[in-house]
Amino acid sequence: MTRDQQLIRGVRTRAVHAGEAPDASTGASAPNIVMSSTFVVDEPHGFSAVDRDSDSPYVYSRWGNPSVRQLEEKLASLEEAERCICFASGMAATTALLFSLLEPGDQLVISDTNYPGTAELARTSLPRLGVEVVTVDSSQLTKVEAAVSSKTRLVWIETPANPILRLSDISAIADIAHRADAELAVDSTFASPIATRPLTLGADYVVHSLTKYIGGHGDAMGGAVLGTTKAMEPVESEGLIHLGGTISPFNAWLIQRGLATLPIRMEAHEKNAMAVAAFLEKHSGVDAVLYPGLPSHPQHELAQTQMENFSGMVSIRIEKGETMAAKMAKELKVFHYAVSLGHHRSLVYWIGTDELVRSSYQIEGSQLESYRKMAGDGVFRLSIGLEDPEDLCADLDQVLS
Ligand SMILES: Cc1ncc(COP(=O)(O)O)c(C=O)c1O
Repeated sequence: MTRDQQLIRGVRTRAVHAGEAPDASTGASAPNIVMSSTFVVDEPHGFSAVDRDSDSPYVYSRWGNPSVRQLEEKLASLEEAERCICFASGMAATTALLFSLLEPGDQLVISDTNYPGTAELARTSLPRLGVEVVTVDSSQLTKVEAAVSSKTRLVWIETPANPILRLSDISAIADIAHRADAELAVDSTFASPIATRPLTLGADYVVHSLTKYIGGHGDAMGGAVLGTTKAMEPVESEGLIHLGGTISPFNAWLIQRGLATLPIRMEAHEKNAMAVAAFLEKHSGVDAVLYPGLPSHPQHELAQTQMENFSGMVSIRIEKGETMAAKMAKELKVFHYAVSLGHHRSLVYWIGTDELVRSSYQIEGSQLESYRKMAGDGVFRLSIGLEDPEDLCADLDQVLS
C-alpha cells in the first residue's frame, strides 16, 4: 500500500478521493470526462477480449475507458472489492453476471421476492438457455438449504428485497452456497455499500443498480458487478466486452460525482426514513409499515447486525391501495409519484400483489402466502429523499387523512 493509499482510509475520504487524482497534464482538481470511443496506441493490439490483461492500455471504450475506470475504482474501494465493472444499467449488470456464469444444466436458486426485472429475466430467458431456475423464500434459511443441490451453480439474493423490504442473511446463505460448491450473488441496491458490504460477509459477487442510491440524483442509468479479480474475468470478457452493455463515460462521470456524497446522503436518507416510518406507524390511515429500522420489522434483529444504515426505503400497506394510488398520483405535492428509488427527491409508487405475482414472481402455495402476509393486496414503496422530514410527513398526511 502506498503512503497516499494509507491516508485515504475513512469511508467519507474514500468516497471523495478513491479512484481519482488531479489531472496530470492540466492540474484540474475535478475529474475530466473522457468521451473518446477509441484510443491511439503506440503498438498494435489484438481484437480478442481473451487476449487482454491488466496492463493493456485503453484501446476501445467498450473494453475500458478512463472515466468509467475512475467510477469502478471508487466503488470497489467502498465495497471492499478487488474488482468492479460498470455497465449501462442495473439490468445490464445482472445480465452480464448471469450470462457469463451459467451454462445449460446449471441450477440457479433465486429469492422469490426481488426486483421484477430480475425475476422476469430469471423465469423467461434463463430456462430458454437450459438453466434450471428454483425460487425460494431466502429469508428462511432451512428453505435455502433444502433448495440448494449439487446442480446449483449460483444462489442469487436481494437484500433488502424490492418491494417488501424482506432481508436475507448474507453470511449464512454464503455458507450454504459454498458447502454445495456454488457461489452467492447479492443485489445490494437497496442497501448501498454504506449499509452492507456483502463481499466482507462471504458473498462472491455484489450487483448494484447505480441508477439508485449510488448515482443518487435520478439523472443517470448505470449498473455494476463486483468481486475478486479472478471471479470477474468472465464478467469482463463475456459479460461486458461481448454482451456490450457498456456505460456511457458521461453517465459514469455523473454517477462518480454522486458517489462522492453517498456516505452523507445515506445518513440523511436513514434519518428521514426513520422519521417518516415512525410517523406512518402511528397514522390511522396506514395498516402496516415495513422498514428494517423499526423494531416492528420481522427481521429487525438481522437488520441490526447486517446493516450499518437502514437505508431510505419504506413500504406501507393501506386499505383500498389502488384508489389511494390514483389519489396520490394527483394530489401529492412534494413526493413524485414515480418508479425508481434512491434519489435526493422522494418518490412513491403502488405495487399491487396480483399483478406482480402474475407477471413477475409467478409464485404460489406457501411462497405466495408468505408474500401476501407482508404485502397484502399491495404496498406503496416510498423512497424517502433528502427533503425536510416534516414536509414529507405533511405531504403524506394531506392525502392519507
Ligand atoms: C434492486 C434492483 N436491482 C436492479 C434494478 C435494475 O436496475 P436498472 O433500472 O438500473 O436497470 C432495480 C431497478 O429498479 C432494482 O430496484
